[in-house]
Amino acid sequence: MKWRTKLTELLNCKYPIMQGGLSGIGTWEFAAAVSNAGADGCLTAATSKTPDGLREDIQKLKKATKNPFTVNITIGMCPHIDEMFEVCFEENVPAIETAVYKPDEYAERIKKSGITWIHKGATVEFCKHAEKLGADAVVLVGLDGYGFKHIKQMPTFTSIAWVAPQINVPLIAAGGIGDPRTFLGALFLGADGVYLGSALMATKECPLSERVKENMIKAQPNHPDLIRELLAPPNPKEYIEVMAAREKMPFEKWIPALERVMLKHHDWRDIDPMWVQAEVLKSKDPQTTELIPSLGERPKGPFSFACGYINRIVTVKEFIENMVKGAEKILKEITEQWELGR
Ligand SMILES: Cc1cc2nc3c(=O)[nH]c(=O)nc-3n(C[C@H](O)[C@H](O)[C@H](O)COP(=O)(O)O)c2cc1C
Repeated sequence: MKWRTKLTELLNCKYPIMQGGLSGIGTWEFAAAVSNAGADGCLTAATSKTPDGLREDIQKLKKATKNPFTVNITIGMCPHIDEMFEVCFEENVPAIETAVYKPDEYAERIKKSGITWIHKGATVEFCKHAEKLGADAVVLVGLDGYGFKHIKQMPTFTSIAWVAPQINVPLIAAGGIGDPRTFLGALFLGADGVYLGSALMATKECPLSERVKENMIKAQPNHPDLIRELLAPPNPKEYIEVMAAREKMPFEKWIPALERVMLKHHDWRDIDPMWVQAEVLKSKDPQTTELIPSLGERPKGPFSFACGYINRIVTVKEFIENMVKGAEKILKEITEQWELGR
């Protein structure tokens, strides 16, 4: 089956599947594996740490795949952000994704570069605003996903069904997607593609430690701690405090702090950005790995409800093929069972 949607047309990829931005984890090797599997791989600029590092990683990625890829620049979390954009323009990357905070300050420069621009937002307002600024596609991430949250954010499938008729550029669904049914479900609801963070982390090429991957396999999506982390509104006192701290904290400290409060973690006052936190999550050193809580002690991890679909660690290629072939099988069964097209 040929998968052709507004997203595959825009990005020129085989399948309407994008890899999510993953600070500290979204390396060029991981992105190359995703692009080579026919999806759109994502190099997260924060993982490269410096503009020179990013340039090197883009060049390595270009050598490792002939297929398109995207560079994620997370506003408020990516260091040296202005220079990181410049490197993307100079290297003429296939696509840039901005995320987390308002892209207004950068919109004109990105548009002038002529590079395909995708923006990820958590609410209908952010997606419409990015479209107005000239984004070529928008990712709408729902509450089911891990990462940055917003008080007006809704569950993934409710938001996609609601927002799809209101957006003209390709709309990409994110949050809790990780198997053939959620992939197809998002497309049926009106998305032009899907975007995967957690689910792709359960692959051999992902640089996370085995401990985190094992936690993902063991985790149950209906564990009360995970439900609270992803779905519950923030603690009102902490939310007021962190919002009041906006002017007093450096922006690069405030954005990770806000993310922590939204995820109901109480350690927000002095938290490192995700690309620094990821060093522990990637460590192969058993002593450092001991710091990662095992599932028995604290059934959490930096992953979403997508853990429910993960029961073994496979290669990226196997993961993408299982998702696509599984979706094709379901479509065939539905067509036959419902006697569609007869
Ligand atoms: C460990 C981890 C790190 C992440 N880091 C970033 C990041 O740096 N920038 C970003 O835009 N999103 C980041 N995200 C969010 C993902 O790109 C994506 O929006 C989210 O994972 C979607 O939900 P899912 O995990 O259910 O697929 C991160 C997610 C995880 C799990």
